[in-house]
Amino acid sequence: MEQARKRAEELLKIMTLEEKIGQTVQYGRYDDRRVELIAAGRVGSMLNVYGAERINELQKLAVEKTRLGIPLLIGDDVIHGYRTIFPIPLAEAASWNLEAMENNARIAAVEAASEGIRWTFAPMVDVTREARWGRIAEGAGEDVYLGSLAAVARVKGFQQANAEGYPTVAACVKHFAGYGWVEGGRDYDTTDMSERTLREHILPPFLAGIQAGAMSVMTAFNEVSGVPASSNVFLLRDILRNEWGFEGITVSDWESIEEVIYHGYAEDRRDAAMKGMRAGVDMDMHSGVYQEHLASIIEERPDMLKLLDEAVLRVLTIKYALGLFENPYTDVHQHEKLILAPEHLQQARLSASQSVVLLKNNPGILPLDFTKHRKIALIGPLADDHHHTMGCWSHKGREEDVQTVRDAFTAELAPHAEIFYEKGSEVKEELEGGLERAVALAEQCDIAIVAVGESEDMTGEHYNRTVINLPECQERVIREIKSRTNTPVVVVLMNGRPLAIEWVQENADAIVEAWHPGTMGGGGILDVLTGAYNPSGRLPVTFPRATGQVPIYYNRKSTGRPNLYEDYLDCDDNELYPFGFGLSYTTFAYSDLSLDRTSIQADGEIKVSARITNTGTRAGEETAQLYIRDMVGSTTRPVKELKGYRKLFLQPGESAEVDFTLTATELGMLDEKLEFTVEPGKFTVWVGPHSAEGLQADFLVV
Ligand code: GLC
Repeated sequence: MEQARKRAEELLKIMTLEEKIGQTVQYGRYDDRRVELIAAGRVGSMLNVYGAERINELQKLAVEKTRLGIPLLIGDDVIHGYRTIFPIPLAEAASWNLEAMENNARIAAVEAASEGIRWTFAPMVDVTREARWGRIAEGAGEDVYLGSLAAVARVKGFQQANAEGYPTVAACVKHFAGYGWVEGGRDYDTTDMSERTLREHILPPFLAGIQAGAMSVMTAFNEVSGVPASSNVFLLRDILRNEWGFEGITVSDWESIEEVIYHGYAEDRRDAAMKGMRAGVDMDMHSGVYQEHLASIIEERPDMLKLLDEAVLRVLTIKYALGLFENPYTDVHQHEKLILAPEHLQQARLSASQSVVLLKNNPGILPLDFTKHRKIALIGPLADDHHHTMGCWSHKGREEDVQTVRDAFTAELAPHAEIFYEKGSEVKEELEGGLERAVALAEQCDIAIVAVGESEDMTGEHYNRTVINLPECQERVIREIKSRTNTPVVVVLMNGRPLAIEWVQENADAIVEAWHPGTMGGGGILDVLTGAYNPSGRLPVTFPRATGQVPIYYNRKSTGRPNLYEDYLDCDDNELYPFGFGLSYTTFAYSDLSLDRTSIQADGEIKVSARITNTGTRAGEETAQLYIRDMVGSTTRPVKELKGYRKLFLQPGESAEVDFTLTATELGMLDEKLEFTVEPGKFTVWVGPHSAEGLQADFLVV
């Protein structure tokens, strides 16, 4: 990066004001006006432009028509795959498999770069406890520790070196910051949180991604405690630049600089441009306020030129660091051998299986047993939908590439079982005669696999829900099959958020959470249902019993009356499924929790070990999780905090020891002054299968 910066400094010296401003301008629509501006050197980046030929055309304008020939940086939302779509990020997080997350991001980058895209607006690293919020689908769930690890894995995957040694694409940790705290789960709404919450739960995944080398940060739409994130000097200069030393670029979210006007924070577009540049937003995504007003702002306030120069230097540095000056054009045939490559599809199928969480499995239901499950009723609106299977942010995915559950069952189970299909209902409304046909089919079959959940347009940006149940028409199909037949029902959930499915939990014979599993989702789900893949997913979010419990999360505070009253008059207090929960086709036992000492100094370390045994009849993967609790602090501490996990694959009867080391990094906290410290006192540690269970022991920090 140092070499890139030096070259950028030399180039900056000879740039005119107009050329400098051009580098801070990004447009997301490709039209004649923008083509004109590109040719005039007044645009530095584009998004939503597709195809190597089209991108090369634009690049040619920038490189060959303008005075300095500065190449464009082409960005896109490559969130969970480009043409090969992987499980949605929340599903990937459910795998707790960092290698898979990194590999998926790497493949997505390779496919995107093969068509000229060199910047992705991902990973989204917004921690959230808001199941009503559509964008919970895009992140890694409710936990800051898992979210930080996922951020690192995805940044490394996206920025993996290409054949020329440059990052394949620049990653962009987003949305800085606090977007996951939107009130009521209403997208873009107000977020108001203490600096403690900001620093303990929201900022760490951004810092982790930046420390992993993330080349860019996207600023959020929301305000943060009164100041819009896209004009927030405290966030963008005090924390991001001064405290963390971040040297990459910051890009606004779509028109989010202009939107500070509507927040009531800027008078007009000129004022918004001034406040964006003052705060340190290097690039204006699509609003045009920089392109229209920065020149006159700098004329009036020459001191702002320094801020512009800093922003332009960062943009140019990234372009050099990506090798765009050396190789601005894309080989228009490169994508032919990379897009949907067999190994990409294999990875997508495996990742879909790894993301499945087995939530319930009555004896003898799963995996399917073809000696008795000879006739299989496949039912539900998600069982054969080539669009919704991909989930949100899958705009480059194509329906013709998708293998639905029905495709996989029909293609791969033929020798073992007869497959029959009935949709049963639409996603959001009844289907004329569908319910009756589904019940009749189930009646005639040995088992019913009912694939239900959310359509792609029920999750993701601005698709928020006030009730997070299964759509009533879908649940009715399950209810009718259960009440009118004796056929066992396996519910396959395909959704982008936790669902409040208390009745399903009580009445289904088995439940697998498959999320929106991507291009090869049908095969991934099939592999779990047949036992070819023993499910190993663990929930990255708490599932509530009812929407009214939201926000509900595992790392809550004890409160002054932890057990005195029921939280609700009309609902059990506890969650439906806890964070970290997931079953297997085998069973695991935890034993021999041991600490290598009973007390440590604040700067000491303590080793924690436990033994996990596969006590079942199938090989399987367990995710042993380590949680701590600081029992008494100068500020109140969560009742549990995830501080480590180990994934281990064990044969039947096999056991293995897992070891963890706890140091100040894991045991520390922010004191009343928000200073990091390790306070003396009693700690409790758990090692177990999820956040609500585990072997426990205590130790002291002295
Ligand atoms: C959207 C999203 C952001 C995305 C950007 C460009 O509104 O908030 O995540 O990267 O605009 O599409």
